[in-house]
Amino acid sequence: MSEANDADATDQPTSEKLVELAKRRGYFFQSSGAYGGVGGFYTFGPQGASLKGNVEDAWRDRFAVAEGNMEIDAPTIMPEPVFEASGHLEGFDDMLVECPECGESHRADHVVEDNTEYEDAESLPIPEVEEVIAEYELVCPSCGAGLAGQAVEAFNLMFATNIGPGDSQPGYLRPETAQGIFVEFPRLKEYARNQLPFGVTQIGRAYRNEISPRRSIIRTREFTQAELEYFIDPEEDEPPLERVADVEVRLYPVGEQNDEDGSEIETTIGEAVEEGIIADEWVAYFLGVAKPWYEAVGVDMDRFRFRQHLSGERAHYAADCWDAESEIDGNWIEMAGFANRTDYDLSKHEEYSEDRFTVFKQYDEPKTVERATVDPDMSYLGPEFGGAAQTVVAELEALAERDRAAFEGDGVEIELEGESHVIPVEKTGFSVDEERIAGEHVTPHVIEPSFGVDRVVYTVLHHAYSEDEVDGEERTYLELEPEVAPTFVGVFPLQSDDELEAVADDVVADLREAGLSVTYDDSGNIGRRYRRQDEVGTPFCVTIDYETVEDEETTVTVRERDTTEQKRLSVDDLAETLAAIRNGDREFEAL
Ligand code: GAP
Repeated sequence: MSEANDADATDQPTSEKLVELAKRRGYFFQSSGAYGGVGGFYTFGPQGASLKGNVEDAWRDRFAVAEGNMEIDAPTIMPEPVFEASGHLEGFDDMLVECPECGESHRADHVVEDNTEYEDAESLPIPEVEEVIAEYELVCPSCGAGLAGQAVEAFNLMFATNIGPGDSQPGYLRPETAQGIFVEFPRLKEYARNQLPFGVTQIGRAYRNEISPRRSIIRTREFTQAELEYFIDPEEDEPPLERVADVEVRLYPVGEQNDEDGSEIETTIGEAVEEGIIADEWVAYFLGVAKPWYEAVGVDMDRFRFRQHLSGERAHYAADCWDAESEIDGNWIEMAGFANRTDYDLSKHEEYSEDRFTVFKQYDEPKTVERATVDPDMSYLGPEFGGAAQTVVAELEALAERDRAAFEGDGVEIELEGESHVIPVEKTGFSVDEERIAGEHVTPHVIEPSFGVDRVVYTVLHHAYSEDEVDGEERTYLELEPEVAPTFVGVFPLQSDDELEAVADDVVADLREAGLSVTYDDSGNIGRRYRRQDEVGTPFCVTIDYETVEDEETTVTVRERDTTEQKRLSVDDLAETLAAIRNGDREFEAL
C-alpha cells in the first residue's frame, strides 16, 4: 500500500469518499432507490458484484479447495424447529430502546458504548443498561431527546415468514449460513465416509433484522457469509499447526484488553500457541490460514489484527472466539469470527430432531467393556405402579447406566412425578456384564471460521482508496490487488479512428481469450479515461495510438495504475505478458 493511502487530501473521512465513489463507479449503493430506499439493503453494481465474486472465489480456493473441504449450497429459509434447536429463537436478540420523541429505534448497547466509557455493553444485563442510560442521561442519537426511563427490550433479529399458504408452518430467513450445514450433518457425514475430521463450507446470504443498520455495507440486514464448519473428534484430532507456525500475527488477547496498560502483541502462531495466548490449537490453525488470505486479497496488514472475545461477548454456542478485525477511519470492525462451537449445535439437533448427529468411531481393536443393565420384575412393578410401570423401567435403565452405586444397597430410589419411590434391588434384575464392542458413537466438536464477505469487500476498498497528484491534477485511485480487481485491463483507441478501433477490437478479443477481464472505452479524452479506470481500480490500461498502426512492429502503450508508468509492448505477446502479471509470474517493473 502506498503512503498516499493514509494521507487523504481532504479532511473528509475516507469512508464518506469511498461511499460516493462506490455509487459513482458501480461498486455498491442503497437498494430500491426509486422507492426511497430502505435501510440495511445494498445492491452491488457491476464492479462490486465482480469484486465480491472474486473475493468469494479466493475464499473458496483457500478454505474449500486447498483445505480439502466440501462445499454445499442450502436454502436460506428454514423451518422453525431448526431455530428452536439452535437457540436462535430463544436468544438471538439485540437490545432495543425507542426514542419517546421521534420514535426512532436504537441499539441500546451502542448508545451506551458510543457515549460512555463502557466498551462491551452487549454483555450487560438489560436492567443494568437501563440504569446506565439513566445515570449518564443518554439521549436519542437522532433527535437528542432524553432516553432515561425508556424500557430496553430484547429484540429477536430473525426475519419471520410463513412457508406455504396460511400460518401453520412458520419459517425464518437463516441468520447464519452455518445452520444449513449443521442440519444436513447426517447426510454430510456419509459423504465423508463417517471419518473425522472433515470440513464443510458454504458461501451464501444471511439475514438479520438489525435494529440500526449503519456504515453502508458494514452492518446490513441482508449480507453474505462464507463459513467453514470443521468437524473434529476433540479427543484425537490435532491440527497441522506446523504449516502455519511461522505466520506472523498481531493479537489482542483478553488479558491485554482488560489491562489498562495492555496492548496488542506481535508474535507468530507457533509462539502464541506455545505461550498459551491462543488456547485452542484448531482456532490458532485457522487464524494462521486466514492471515495470509486477507493479505492476498488486499487487506492492509498495518490495519489488521485478531482480537479475542471478552467472556460476555461470546455467542451462546462458543467456548473460545477470536475476531479478525480491520481498522476503518480509526475504528476497528469485525470481519470474521473464529469460534470453537464445541458439540453444542450437533447435540441440540440430535436432541430436537429424529436423526443422528453422531459419528461411529471404530476402535483399532474391539474392546471389552462392562455394561450395567436392568431386567425388572414386571409382576412386581405392574401392580405397584400401574400405567407408570414402563416409565419406572426407563428410569431404572437410565440410572443403571449413570450410577451403578445406586444399586449397591437393598433398595433403589427413583423419582416419579416429583415423588420418591424405593424399589427392592432384587426386583430390578440389575446386573453388570462384559461386552465386546467395536466402537462408539461420538458427537463431533465444531471449529468455525465465519467470514462476512461484505465487510472484506468494504475493507479491501477502504484500504485500497488512495489519492495523489498526477501532472498537477488530483487523482483518486483504488490500489486493488490484481487477484480481486473487477477489471484487469482497460483498452482505449487514442481517437475515434477506424484503423485504431480495429486494432483495439483485436486486442480486446485477444485479452479476453487469455481469460482477462477487459473493459473497452472510447469516450472522452485519454486523460479522463485513465482517471475513470484509476477510480475503478483497473491495474493496467492499454492505449492504441498512431505509432501502433504506423510502426513496423505493432506495439501499444501499457500504463500501470499505481505508478502511472508507461511502457511500449508488442501486441503479439501482450495477452501472455499481462496474464503472467495477473498470475504473479511476472512483474511490470521488470518488463
Ligand atoms: N456463524 C457464526 C456467525 O454468524 P457472527 O459473528 O454473528 O458469527 C460472522 O457473523 C460474520 O458475519 C461477522 O464477522 C461479520 O463479518 C458478518 N456479519 C454479521 N452481521 C452482519 C451484518 N449485519 N452485516 C454485514 N455483515 C455481518
